[in-house]
Formats: sequence, structure tokens, C-alpha cells
Amino acid sequence: MKFDQPAGQNPIDQLKVIGKPTNRIDGKFKTTGTAPYAYERHDAAPDAAYGYVVGAGIAKGRITAMDLTAAKAAPGVLAIVTADTAGPLVKGDFNTAKLLGGPAIDHYHQAVALVVAETFEQARAAAALIRVDYARDKGRFDLDTALKTAPLKGDDDKAPPVHRVGDFEKAFAAAPIKLDALYETPDQSHAMMEPHASIASWAGDKLTLWTSNQMIAWGKGDVAKTLGIPKDDVRLISPYIGGGFGGKLFVRADAILAALGAKQAGRPVKVALQRPLMINNTTHRPATRQRIRLGAGEDGKLTAIAHESGSGDLPGGGPETAVSQTRLLYAGANRLTSMRLAVLDLPEGNAMRAPGEAPGLMALEVAMDEMAEKLNMDPVQFRIVNDTQVDPEKPGRKFSQRQLVECLRMGADKFGWSQRNAKPRSVRDGRWLVGMGVASGFRNNITMKSGARVGIDKKGMVTVATDMTDIGTGTYTIIAQTAAEVMGVPLEKVNVLLGDSSFPVAAGSGGQWGANSSTAGVYAACMKLREAVAQKLGFNSADVEFADGKVRSGNRSVPLAQAAGDAGLSAEDSIEFGDLAKKEQQSTFAGHFVEVGVDAYTGEIRIRRMLAVCAAGRILNPKSARSQVIGAMTMGVGAALMEELAIDKRFGFFVNHDLASYEVPVHADIPHQEVIFLEEVDPMSSPMKAKGVGELGLCGVGAAIANAIYNASGVRIREYPITLDKVIAGTAMVA
Ligand code: MOS
Repeated sequence: MKFDQPAGQNPIDQLKVIGKPTNRIDGKFKTTGTAPYAYERHDAAPDAAYGYVVGAGIAKGRITAMDLTAAKAAPGVLAIVTADTAGPLVKGDFNTAKLLGGPAIDHYHQAVALVVAETFEQARAAAALIRVDYARDKGRFDLDTALKTAPLKGDDDKAPPVHRVGDFEKAFAAAPIKLDALYETPDQSHAMMEPHASIASWAGDKLTLWTSNQMIAWGKGDVAKTLGIPKDDVRLISPYIGGGFGGKLFVRADAILAALGAKQAGRPVKVALQRPLMINNTTHRPATRQRIRLGAGEDGKLTAIAHESGSGDLPGGGPETAVSQTRLLYAGANRLTSMRLAVLDLPEGNAMRAPGEAPGLMALEVAMDEMAEKLNMDPVQFRIVNDTQVDPEKPGRKFSQRQLVECLRMGADKFGWSQRNAKPRSVRDGRWLVGMGVASGFRNNITMKSGARVGIDKKGMVTVATDMTDIGTGTYTIIAQTAAEVMGVPLEKVNVLLGDSSFPVAAGSGGQWGANSSTAGVYAACMKLREAVAQKLGFNSADVEFADGKVRSGNRSVPLAQAAGDAGLSAEDSIEFGDLAKKEQQSTFAGHFVEVGVDAYTGEIRIRRMLAVCAAGRILNPKSARSQVIGAMTMGVGAALMEELAIDKRFGFFVNHDLASYEVPVHADIPHQEVIFLEEVDPMSSPMKAKGVGELGLCGVGAAIANAIYNASGVRIREYPITLDKVIAGTAMVA
């Protein structure tokens, strides 16, 4: 089904099942331990041997010698994979560095060997006996140093490196009120619960990988490319995923090494990346250095907006696109945005939940708060004054839906914003200094081609099969809701099969495009199936009705089960998106409100209340959407207050490489959170008229917290994470 016209009235609009806060259909599996992690698929290959990954002990240089003698002789060892045994491996399309290093080493903890043994303990013990000698090169590990000579870099190879509208320099110079400030965000790790893990099994030339991956088709393609085998010989199975956040968009060393280990050992092999290896072996969100300049008139209208961001990555990598939202969020006639990309020899930087916007808004929305103060304007009002209903770079192009102002107004009302004292450090609750902060949330809506197969059997059971994934987001449930709505059956009559590359290729889980795109693909397949049913019954498909498990036309009514017959009926289709996204800008919006307490003596920061008001198209399931948003808000607390990969700049690695030392929020850190979804349907986005919220929920949260801390304590901190030492240092200046 081609989607190139705005969606009209369609079966989704019935809202009998869609739009209801349905419990997760996979909830019972999650809570009874029957939705296993990849490593726990004991049914997949009961005779699997265990692989243990050895990571490089240097960040850059070469392996000069590897002594495997002792490891090979160790008890239970079946095989040892190294670059020598594996032959030349090609780099996958989605990887920046090779997943098996040697002799050249590209980053610390790049895999250099896999030891396969009968038991996990034997593999681990033998791995410790491998002796690797290295010749260490000088690496580039300091972002600030590397940025001094770093070139400009566009979002992709086609985009110009600097986007300009009007004359920023002139307008900024002429502006009566100005801000010029620098902001820093650190390297961050996805730190998902389930580690990257795979079980590999070969049958002749055919490889099956039970793994944990967000994008099945990308993964299948890259496994084939890396191993130099035909795509048709690779099957990926990834039905349940214990978190990804972008860290599992691409296949990683566990999958490739399990496949190589299984080949070499002649039997299935399972590999999980050890937690202490994950942080340096896989990808992370790159640190940024952002300079923001804003110029406004006395009326509070922005006349000049510049946002320049610098980040680093391995050779061949990409920038953290932290300026993207600044091109679209506020009006202003004179604009400049650009990025610089430095070469670093740290582990690979890549997408992490809301790549670009998440760190970009942590800077921009603090700058907006600072500017509001300079203007002596309420920060909610300042944002409202600078709203735009058109793309500020291309004024002829409007937003398909844009309710930022409504998000901010509703949020201010529900949060009790009028109670805020604009004077910092003026509200006290015992030992706590109390403050409120606000930020706009923004994330683009991306659509991706997505396919599905839908069948009905003789019992009237509807089965959806697609290689779409559920990374904890609720995909199973919204896909079931979609099929139930379109086929006119209750939810219990829908069976959803996901995450298998033998199913039709779907959008996958990334960039908050999954919910809208994958359900639209299911919608397309269901509509095709309805036609097949109508045709089989000799019904005129124009006036056929699917409801209550029956198909009706005129005065004839046939149960779906009967229509399907003994052989059943099935149909496959995909949604393909035309150029509607070019005609109108599709984005999602939020207003984030936070109240914090800052301990007047110790600088300890506690979040007291949080509210997100979101406008993101039709909400397919308010319960799973809310879960996405509160999870993202929690991640925003981590980004604002805790998360930071500490770099050893001598040896080039992230020091805090486990969940004990890479801090993320726990339940005790998170107070009452509220989420409100504004009424919205977006006919430009898909037949579902939905968009995504999974990343929107994170976008702006960190800045709202930073702004609340400023309002509470009078200390403005522009370097994340905002920890108590920075509060104490700043307090000396203001108190
Ligand atoms: Mo997302 S960072 O595209 O999984």
C-alpha cells in the first residue's frame, strides 16, 4: 500500500480497540519468565557450547603476538576464534569499526578472541590464559583538543555543513538582548538490562542466530556481509528484547563471534557480552560541546539563533546531530546551525535514544531559560512568543500538526506553574531549596517502509507475522490492537509473531518510528486480507463490514472462521511512504515541567515532581505510550543528574564500565510522574494517524531539570551531569 495522500476515514478511526489503554499482551510472559532473553533460549540449541569474548587491552595500535597455547590446552576448550582463524572479515554497513579486531586495534575492548568451551566457567578460565602482546600507538582521546582542528560535518554526505538563513552575525550584533553560552554533555551509555547476546547454530551453510536486536533486516544484511555469505543463508530470531535504546540497532560482536565460534567448534555456541566489556565494546552516545547564541528584541522575539555543536567519533563515524531541533523549534529570521566532527580513538559513538535532540535540547532549552531571564520574561511565555507554525528555514512549509504552545499552556496549568517564584533561590522547604523548571520537547517523526503478513485460520484466529521488534515498548500489543480493529475481532483472537527474519521486513524499532510505521504495515496487510475475504465470499468489498468476528455485506453475515475455511486465508503487504513528509514537516512536541529540591547545605538534588504534556499524533495505546514516556523521563533524570562515561585520557577507555559505576536512576530517585497526551490525529503521518513518543519523552527533560535547579538554587550549571560538587562550587558564587 502506497501512502502518498493524507489519510481519510478508515477502519482505524472506529477506535474500538485502538486508543484503549490495553494491558500488554506479552505481560504474562514477562512476569512469568517465559519471555526469555536471547542468552536464555535454552530450547534453541540445548547442546550449545559457551563463548567468552576477549577484548583488546589497548585503544589503538597492533597485536604483535598472541599466545593461545595455554588456553587451547585448558579443560573443556573446543575452539578459539581470532582474526587469524576467522579469515578476512568485512565491516558491516552499520558498524564503524570491525567487530573482530587484529592485528590492527581500533578501540579499547574491541573483540580480539572468542574462547569456546563446554561450560561458561571453562571458557572464562581459558580466556584468562590468552597472552596478547601489543604495540601501542598514541591515540586521540580528548574531545576538546581534537575539536580545535576538527572539520565541519553535515548530517549526511549531501547536507551542507552549515545551514544559514538570513544574516545571523549582523542580527546578533544588532540585538539588544543577547546570550552567548557554552554547554557540555558527556559520553553516555545505553546501559540496557539485557546484554548483547546471541546463540548461533549452523545447519550446513545456513546460519540461525537467536539474538537481541532492534532492526532485524539490517542485522541479517550485516551478518551476511561481515561473514561473506548470502543473505538467504542467515536467519535472525529476536522476539523479546530487554532494552536497546539504540545500542542494539546494529549487530555487534556477540552475533558475529557466536557464528564464527559455532562454525569452528562444529556445534552451536552462545555468547553474551560480559557487562564489563559492553561499555567499551559496543556503542555509546558521544559527548558534545555546544555553543548557543541567541539574540532578541525587547519584545522577547528571537531575531538571531545560532547553535554550533562539536562531537567526536572513530575514523569514518558520524557527528552527534545536536543542532537538528534548533532548525525547526523556534521562529527567528536569522539562523545558523553547524556541526564539527573530531576524530577520536575512543569506542564507537552512535545512536542512543533520540540521538541529536536529546543532548541538543539539554543545551538549547537551558539557553532559552537563560534568555528568558535576561528578558525578564516568564520562560513559558518566552517559548510561546517564539512559536512558529511553519518550518523557520522554509516558511512555505507548514507543520502537519504542531501543538507546542498547547503543551506548554496545559502543562503550566496542570503543574501549578503560576506558583513558581521567578527569583532564584527564594523558595524554601526546610533544608531544601525548591525550584521549578520548564523545557520544550521536540523530536521529528520519521516513517519507514514496513511489511506484515496476516492470516485467519478456521477457528477465526488472526495471526500477524512481521520481523518488527518489541524492545519493551509495547509493540506486540499495538500490533494486536491494529489487527483486531481492522479485522473486527476481539484482542484475544489475535496472535502476534515478531522478530524473525523469515517474516516480512518491517520498520524495526528505532528513531521512534516503530509504532506508527509498523502498525501502518499491519494495517496495509489487514486491508489486503479483508479484500481476500470479501472476494472469497463474493462480497462487494466497498460495502463490507468486519465486526464481532463476522463479515457482513447487505443482509449476509459470515463468521470469519467460516470464511477462512480449512485452508485459511492470508495476505501480505507493506506500507510505503511517499513524499508527504517533504510537503509538511512532521514532528512531535512536548512541554516538560519539573520541580526539584536542592539541599541548601550539601547540594544534593532530588526530583520532587515531573509532568510531560505530549502532542504526538494519535496515541495507539495510552498505557504503553505512558510507560514509554515515564521511562524516557526517568532516562532524562539520569542524563541530567547522573550519567557520564568517565574517560581515561591516557589509555583511551571508559573507566566506569559496569552498572555499579555507571549511575542511572533507581526507583528511589523517581518521584510522582504525570503524563498527559493532547488530542491529536495526524493524517499526514500514516493511515494510523499516529506518530511516536518513545524518544519525545526524553527530549527536553534534562534541560527542565537544569532549569529547575537554577530556579531552586541560583546556580546555573552548563556541564552535565549536574552533580552536587558543581552545585556546591556554584553556591559559593551566589549565596
Ligand atoms: Mo533509537 S537511538 O533510533 O533506537
